[in-house]
Amino acid sequence: MKKILDLLTQETAKAFAAAGYDEKYARVSLSNRPDLCEYQCNGAMAAAKEYHKAPAMIADAVTEELRKSSVFEDVQAVKPGFINMKLAPEFLCGYLNDMEKDERMGCDRTEHPETILIDYGGPNVAKPLHVGHLRSAIIGESIKRMGRFMGHHVIGDVHLGDWGLQMGLIIVELKERQPDLPYFDESYEGEYPAEAPFTIAELEEIYPTASARSKEDEAYKEEAMQATYELQHGRRGYQALLQHILNVSVTDLKRNYANLNVEFDLWKGESDAQPYIPAMVQEMKDKGYAYESDGALVVDVKEDTDTKEVPPCMILKSDGASLYTTTDLATLVERRKLYDPDEIIYVVDKRQEMHFIQVFRCAKKCGIVKEETKLRFLGFGTMNGKDGKPFKTREGGVMRLEYLIKDIDEEMLKKIQASRPMEEAEAEETAKIVGLSALKYGDLSNQASKDYIFDVDRFTSSEGNTGPYILYTIVRIKSILKKYQEEGGNAEDARILPCQNESEKALMLELTKFNGVMENAFEEIAPHKICAYIYDLANAFNKFYHETKILGTEDETMQKSRIRLLTLTRRVLETCIDVLGFEAPERM
Ligand code: ARG
Repeated sequence: MKKILDLLTQETAKAFAAAGYDEKYARVSLSNRPDLCEYQCNGAMAAAKEYHKAPAMIADAVTEELRKSSVFEDVQAVKPGFINMKLAPEFLCGYLNDMEKDERMGCDRTEHPETILIDYGGPNVAKPLHVGHLRSAIIGESIKRMGRFMGHHVIGDVHLGDWGLQMGLIIVELKERQPDLPYFDESYEGEYPAEAPFTIAELEEIYPTASARSKEDEAYKEEAMQATYELQHGRRGYQALLQHILNVSVTDLKRNYANLNVEFDLWKGESDAQPYIPAMVQEMKDKGYAYESDGALVVDVKEDTDTKEVPPCMILKSDGASLYTTTDLATLVERRKLYDPDEIIYVVDKRQEMHFIQVFRCAKKCGIVKEETKLRFLGFGTMNGKDGKPFKTREGGVMRLEYLIKDIDEEMLKKIQASRPMEEAEAEETAKIVGLSALKYGDLSNQASKDYIFDVDRFTSSEGNTGPYILYTIVRIKSILKKYQEEGGNAEDARILPCQNESEKALMLELTKFNGVMENAFEEIAPHKICAYIYDLANAFNKFYHETKILGTEDETMQKSRIRLLTLTRRVLETCIDVLGFEAPERM
């Protein structure tokens, strides 16, 4: 379906032409002065230059034409040359009825579906998920859903960090504790046990212990580096241990992500890219892109227009070891081979921006990705505590994601129980659903690149710009619709009638923005724009609800019309929150 602004522009173009002016000046936008009008066209000002006339003259002539159109209820030319417009209620409800009939509520699928890979999550194996990975998961999931809604083929890849010194550390520590395991016996040729020699709880304890010890014990660290090297060069026992570490971690990660309503199509990791490294490096050398510098292998990636220094991209260290950049480049080789994406979006902490500038430039320069493949870095800011510093536990440690979710759910439960009596089990279930909205909306409503303050009390409030407020609005609509049905109402074959008051019109006008918002939010990979939209829509609905009788409407056709309007509002809100990655309960 055409966007409402496009329809209005089209109508205004006819008026410009009829008045003898070029149609290109007819662009209509939302009003900057909602107190005066709903839409405006500022084209007369620009046209004045071409036609050497006063803008007001042009605005007057176009306004006269526009007044003949049934699209508008009121058109005013305002000095120096603005054209202010209000929609005719008939036209407006016609648009809404078309939206209603469309299963996508007027938001067409893209005409150019692309394969888009989203690299998000990025947890590190054997380390517990902490809040630093939360933003990536929440934002990435939403972008994946937005892309799918727009009709693209979107693949989500968790891109595990499973290839560093942390693996060697675990191996060495495990060897200390259980030296008799067959994984450490180089002469062992039999099958390795199917069962991992540790649980997730043990694994999560082993890694920090080993990591702390390596900082004090040089020999221990050497040993871990050696183990990492041997693992990376195919030592059988260590490879088998890596598989155990991966299996145990991934099972735990999946459980955690499921609690967040986050799901990945691919569970690939840095280790999957390793087989592609040798050939990739060889080609970079053969083509003359990579050269030796102080023993290391590098590729220059700076450009003349750079305003800050972009150091050469390091491919191999002087000891021949690969780096984070090498892995990301090899991952691009693999992705091209397996999925051939048109676009890859990386949702990663913005402090890694330089890394991605280097990787992207190097990949283009060396032909690792096609010239037309879009590589985008969506760098997000830090989630801070109320003290403005990165969020920590009360004891000052890194907060585990599980505990953070638990905190929110508990606060939500208190609020829910305080607001209405509910059975314990239902209250707990509801607190989980609403708690997730608090967490996700609290994050997504900020522009991703900005830091924000995590504030449990504010996020879980049912008032203000919060997830629970949006859910309250949806639940309110659901309960009105349910009541209507229970009283035997049926509005199946009714249509939405022209609005009868200002707040009804305001709600209708908000609804018409849906397709434009969705399209634009995805183009700019900006979930916060969807949040801003549903906040406005929820406000418009609540104002309408307080000022207008719905079930109490005496005129039956009007009542049915309002039921349909509510149904549409609910559909739009529910579609938006689904794209954001949360849902509404039945009651709250
Ligand atoms: N594992 C990394 C970290 O914790 C994030 C990975 C991001 N994705 C990537 N392709 N580099 O910092």
